[in-house]
Amino acid sequence: MLVGKPLLGEKEIQAKVKELAEAISRDFAGEELVAIGILKGAFMFYSDLIRHIDVPVTVDFIIASSYLKTESTGEVRIHADIREDISGKNVLLVEDIVDTGITLNHIRERILQRAPARLAVTALLDKRERRIVDVPIEYKGFEIPDRYVVGYGLDFDGKFRNLPYISIFKRSE
Ligand code: IMP
Ligand code: MG
Repeated sequence: MLVGKPLLGEKEIQAKVKELAEAISRDFAGEELVAIGILKGAFMFYSDLIRHIDVPVTVDFIIASSYLKTESTGEVRIHADIREDISGKNVLLVEDIVDTGITLNHIRERILQRAPARLAVTALLDKRERRIVDVPIEYKGFEIPDRYVVGYGLDFDGKFRNLPYISIFKRSE
């Protein structure tokens, strides 16, 4: 198995992440934010993003899974939940990629049950063609074609998350 040419290079990703953080900072100016990262995939995007957010941020995470190898199972499992009390607070959900939308929708509904003051979503990547559940993404990085990608937090079978760029994953025979 191998990883092809970068689809999105490190510089391009970093510029976009900064742009997203600036938009978020503008929209939440004068307020505070609980940023919830959806692990594992969002860890790299999350840590780069929050460094550029200039309103007070509380960090928290939720660990979820829905994928086996390159196929979505359609079933979302929560392995660890958030620890912050988010009722009446501004929440930013941070996701790596929205594919069918099932994972994000499930987590978004779960967060809404805890009555945040305001909930916004940021996702670095959007595979729109694959959408099954329509879910709002207030701060979107890049729209990408329907190809399986790895790197910058995204994995194939647990690997390639450490790459600083994003590549289309190719399986060699
Ligand atoms: P969804 O529930 O189908 O939207 O899937 C979303 C989750 O599947 C994301 O949070 C990713 O962790 C994972 N995922 C979706 N597409 C890809 C991909 O191309 N590469 C790696 N992981 C992916
Ligand atoms: Mg994810």
